[in-house]
Amino acid sequence: MLCLFKPHLNLWKSFLVSKTEFYQELLTQTKALISDEIDPIANMANISALLFDALEQVNWLGFYRIIENQLVLGPFQGKVACIRIPLGKGVCGTAAQTKKTQRINDVHQFDGHIACDATTNAEIVIPVQLNGDIIAVLDIDSTSFERFNQQDQVGLEAIVKVFEQSLVQNLAHNDEKLTR
Ligand code: SME
Repeated sequence: MLCLFKPHLNLWKSFLVSKTEFYQELLTQTKALISDEIDPIANMANISALLFDALEQVNWLGFYRIIENQLVLGPFQGKVACIRIPLGKGVCGTAAQTKKTQRINDVHQFDGHIACDATTNAEIVIPVQLNGDIIAVLDIDSTSFERFNQQDQVGLEAIVKVFEQSLVQNLAHNDEKLTR
């Protein structure tokens, strides 16, 4: 099924569509990608692959899961990364603790930024919630300063929302998978 997505992704990359249309299409493809699968780790892996392929100027993209009160590296695309991040530390830990998206134009100005990759200059981290609790974050890095604007934030939060809805729908299964 994934190969059917490819022609669309190439169209987006040619900038023939607006950012709003781009994210609407990406949302549609995310829904299709995860709709038949109940395993959250598998869905995180495929969402990472889809977004990493579709988004321009992104050098790292993936999930950190909350396990025993720490963020632990989950499915991702990009170079090897920091494995464990305490809540409240770095951009990821701040997003998890505040339950608010962190959109950082220049990570070098963010007090406590954790530099897994020295080439990263901008970052957006979106919390993933299940019944009001943070269970993970989606972290996206770019080498371009100010890479992520308000439209990116709205588009990416909508994609995370779709993933959250799948978690609720598959709650019995996910209770076992998401925490230990
Ligand atoms: N920069 C993040 C750490 C994770 S890496 O970017 C993959 C942070 O400050 O939390």
